[in-house]
Amino acid sequence: MYRTHTCGELRAAHIGKEVTLSGWVQRSRDLGGMTFVDLRDRYGITQLAFNMETHEALCSEARKWGREFVIQATGKVIERHSKNHQIPTGEIEILVENCAVLNPSKTPPFTIEEESDGGDDLRMQWRFLDLRRNPLKNNLMLRHRMGIVARNFLDQQGFLEIETPYLIKSTPEGARDFVVPSRMNPGQFYALPQSPQTFKQLLMVSGYDRYYQIVRCFRDEDLRADRQPEFTQIDCEMAFVEQEDILNTFESMVRTLFKEVKGIDLAAVPRMTYADAMRYYGSDKPDIRFDMKFQDFSDKMKNKGFVIFDNAEVVLGIVAKGAGNYTRKQLDELTEWVKRPQIGAKGLVYCLCQEGGTFKSSVDKFYSQEQWKEIAAQGDAQQGDLILILSGELHATRKQLGELRLHLGNQLGLRNPEEFKSLWVMDFPLVEWNEEAQRWFAMHHPFTSPKPEHIALLDTEPGAVNANAYDFVINGVEVGGGSIRIHDRQVQSRMFELLGFTPEEAQEQFGFLLNAFEYGAPPHGGIAFGFDRLCSLFGGADNIRDFIAFPKNNSGRDVMIDAPSVIEKKQLDELFIDVKTVD
Ligand code: AMO
Repeated sequence: MYRTHTCGELRAAHIGKEVTLSGWVQRSRDLGGMTFVDLRDRYGITQLAFNMETHEALCSEARKWGREFVIQATGKVIERHSKNHQIPTGEIEILVENCAVLNPSKTPPFTIEEESDGGDDLRMQWRFLDLRRNPLKNNLMLRHRMGIVARNFLDQQGFLEIETPYLIKSTPEGARDFVVPSRMNPGQFYALPQSPQTFKQLLMVSGYDRYYQIVRCFRDEDLRADRQPEFTQIDCEMAFVEQEDILNTFESMVRTLFKEVKGIDLAAVPRMTYADAMRYYGSDKPDIRFDMKFQDFSDKMKNKGFVIFDNAEVVLGIVAKGAGNYTRKQLDELTEWVKRPQIGAKGLVYCLCQEGGTFKSSVDKFYSQEQWKEIAAQGDAQQGDLILILSGELHATRKQLGELRLHLGNQLGLRNPEEFKSLWVMDFPLVEWNEEAQRWFAMHHPFTSPKPEHIALLDTEPGAVNANAYDFVINGVEVGGGSIRIHDRQVQSRMFELLGFTPEEAQEQFGFLLNAFEYGAPPHGGIAFGFDRLCSLFGGADNIRDFIAFPKNNSGRDVMIDAPSVIEKKQLDELFIDVKTVD
């Protein structure tokens, strides 16, 4: 028997018991008469004590062990002289009477502690060692727990978990596909699914009116902190439902997750239209942990002689409460920040609302104290506040001000990761115009239903058509998105036409779905949550990477197994692939 207990289990109540533990050597301390070894496993750390006087051979043996040796030790649980109140096993130790090295270890390339001394790249390369560290272990435990709670919830609501295929057909909509060559069908390729979207809709046609799947999705897109090329969705679909049913069901799922995993009672989830989200926050996923809503100062600030504002489509501002004491240096830094290429603003106008009701702005030449008073009143800026203003084309200015708002939120400590504010963003436009491609693109995907009352506009003003689509946002992160689907063949064909597909192309690529719609497709809709994002939010982190056991790095590589990699000529020949070598 390798162990009678785990390294996290023993307490004062076990004193006097004979036990056997197995685990990894975290560290050892040699104090002459005694040697102490911290033995670690997934469950915790227990101190082993070796007595030089009574067990000289054992003690000498233990002194030779290096970090990360795998050890088995048997002995008696005794009370510790100097207790460690930081860890649950800190009142006891094991007086070792017998021990064995199960496997030695080379010295690891970085320390396996709460805080490691290893850099990102090194730890990614040795991920299996990094996973021994508590922060990562806790993340994976959190992920496991969340999966269980979500599954139980969906099971109780009558959802069936049904697997859909990973080798499917490539389609041009959405992100880029990862493709897989087919040996048995020379020159042809499967694609890995970006999501099980069409399959879950087919399942609705098949009559499985509540489906879910915790499923891997694959997208060949540029990576960011909240994006991985393979990631996991809690993917759900329901038939015979309206938008309201879906919102209620999944609000309830998120509420259950918060309650059971974090003990938090989530407040009722407010709803905001896409139009308002853009108008007030310049983002379709606003962080509403703090207010700082946009103010449109165009009326008050245009045509007052300040050429930049006079020529701008809009003049928008925000009020940073309590930031009226920002120094010139801080304001210059903010200006430089918005001028970075990633943000792209030309400049920033500021106004400090000073004690005594006076204003000090960067454009004092053009605006009187009286005018500032009116501007401040519109934005409800008080003494001690800071007004920041950007101008330009509507869409770009909103985006830039949205970024500035988040930046200030960070600077002013308004984005506490332990506070959770969720939000439904609703009524997305069905399509958006792409200048480069000179055509309409689906804002969510081509299967999203227009609002019934907007269907007539499809022919005349597609950009004004709203969809029955919704996103679930927590703390400014889009954690889920879905829609009521089209279930009518004619409407679906019309949608493909709008997106620039000829009837032949639509039939060739989505014929299976169009055909299915002719065989009794029920009204249906659904949603998919980004499981990795949900986990990282619950874990209070921005990066989803550390909530995935074996993630890819920023260049989409797994540096531990060294993938992707070249394959042998023989393998390529079998697949009829002629690869041009890249130098
Ligand atoms: P969507 O494309 O919005 O919708 O994806 C749903 C959710 O998945 C998460 N997500 C990602 N997480 C990590 N890395 C990525 N690269 C990544 N891409 C997306 C986000 C997002 O909200 N089939 C539809 C859903 C539906 O309509 O039911 C879909 O896939 O949190």
